[in-house]
Amino acid sequence: MSVAATRQKQTAEWYEDYYTTKGDDRNDPLRNPGVLFQNLAFEKSIVEALRTIRLDKTWDILDVGCGAGFSMLRLLSYGLEPEHLYGIDIAQDRITRGRRRQPALNFTLGDATAMEYPSNRFDLAMESTMFVQITDETMAGGIAREMVRVVKPGGYIMLTDWRYSFGRPGYYALSPQRIASLFGVGTSTRVVCVRKGALLPPLGRALSRYLPTLYFPLCRVLPFLVGQVTVVLQKVSA
Ligand SMILES: C[S@@+](CC[C@H](N)C(=O)[O-])C[C@H]1O[C@@H](n2cnc3c(N)ncnc32)[C@H](O)[C@@H]1O
Repeated sequence: MSVAATRQKQTAEWYEDYYTTKGDDRNDPLRNPGVLFQNLAFEKSIVEALRTIRLDKTWDILDVGCGAGFSMLRLLSYGLEPEHLYGIDIAQDRITRGRRRQPALNFTLGDATAMEYPSNRFDLAMESTMFVQITDETMAGGIAREMVRVVKPGGYIMLTDWRYSFGRPGYYALSPQRIASLFGVGTSTRVVCVRKGALLPPLGRALSRYLPTLYFPLCRVLPFLVGQVTVVLQKVSA
């Protein structure tokens, strides 16, 4: 089996295990009241980060590990046009679903460790909750290198991910140290901003379900309980 096929199979197995363990409604705000405030906090961190870098609606943007295009849909809702939005994912079923739902978006099926986009092509490359699920550091390093390569000098890399994983098998936190090592912070990139988002899942999901009015005050009072952050890096000019 080729490396790409092995990776495709491993990714499919990861998701099968995830939804078998957590339940089909794990991320469904209509069926699971634990989801809504986690999603709102997640989006808050992204909007604040995009405001910081003054996102221009004519930028070309690549979503790495785009799944069925959820993050690109969010950008569409902010007024970006589909011809500026590109997504790549290794999972055939997700890309098929994305293309069916949003035919105007530019979906590519492929392994992000070897992307076919030219160097310096995009103004912004982003990812959302992909790195936390990649425990193979060779693969993570390959994706990070590719994200830096395809972004223009002075362009941005936006990482929306979980900064703690507590040693759980199958997860590897995207901590500041891991970001620095994967993305060459200080040499190839520099940190532009860090914006806090969702609370650690057991707590955030419980508050969302039972005490939603306390959700954002708690984020402010106990910021170390925020597990998801959006970090923006800038590719330094050569
Ligand atoms: C948690 S999902 C996030 C999906 C999407 N970003 C979102 O927010 O809805 C992570 C995605 O990364 C993809 N992925 C994992 N390894 C990949 C690789 N090597 N190349 C491209 N996509 C990959 C998975 O197939 C999965 O769709």
